[in-house]
Amino acid sequence: MQIVILKNSVEVAEYGANIFIEQLQAKPDSVLGLATGSTPMSLYRQLINANQAGEVSFVKVKSFNLDEYLGLDGSHPQSYRYFMNEQLFDHIDIDKSQTFVPPGDAQDPIEACERYENQIIEAGGIDIQLLGIGRNGHIGFNEPSSGLMSRTRVKTLTKATIDDNARFFSEGEYQPHLSITMGIGTILDAKKVVLLATGDNKADAIKATVEGALSASCPASALQLHRNAVLVLDEAAASKLSDCDFYRHIEVENQKLRASLAKS
Ligand code: GLP
Repeated sequence: MQIVILKNSVEVAEYGANIFIEQLQAKPDSVLGLATGSTPMSLYRQLINANQAGEVSFVKVKSFNLDEYLGLDGSHPQSYRYFMNEQLFDHIDIDKSQTFVPPGDAQDPIEACERYENQIIEAGGIDIQLLGIGRNGHIGFNEPSSGLMSRTRVKTLTKATIDDNARFFSEGEYQPHLSITMGIGTILDAKKVVLLATGDNKADAIKATVEGALSASCPASALQLHRNAVLVLDEAAASKLSDCDFYRHIEVENQKLRASLAKS
């Protein structure tokens, strides 16, 4: 895993957005894996700006979102489809018919999960997957104890996740306890993975992800198995890591290497 430690959430969003911009410039028909939550919101704003400034186009892009609440259809303001439309798709030149979010209103959710996996395969697989992380180390809605090779499926949410996400729902509003989520195995199949984490409430999860054992107790630790995963952290999210100096040193060496390659 590449660990990038930056000063604050602004720098994290900029760094993450640049990875996506470079990906789209190199491969305009990229298949993007996208995420919801508050963490990626400013990255999406930067992608919108880059698109409106003509730096990148999404015309040939396909996208697959990580997860959706089971029981909410896409017109529900708390659904992840609604979030994606509002935060990104409505403001860029993407063909919305090529944006896929697991169907929260599926009559047959088990069949819908299989179909979602097939749609990803038919698209040629995910080139780059964006991730946030839950306080308990979840990625997508893969809660602790999720199988490390799991595929898209229905997942029950933990009380901790329901409580964390309650802030998006108004008082008395129905909040689903089930979701459809890409599995950890689905995420690991992406060619590149970019995980963003900001704030000290993510510090324990990041510690377990980077320096803990590979374990279903911390689903994000499965990224230790990935060949091309980058974790972009602010200082607060990185604050419990023991080896920060080493990670910073690696980044300096990486930059030197990139600079010398660019010259040659
Ligand atoms: C939800 C999403 C995750 C996201 C997590 C953290 O549970 N299913 O994909 O990473 O929230 O969200 P936030 O970025 O708001 O902390």
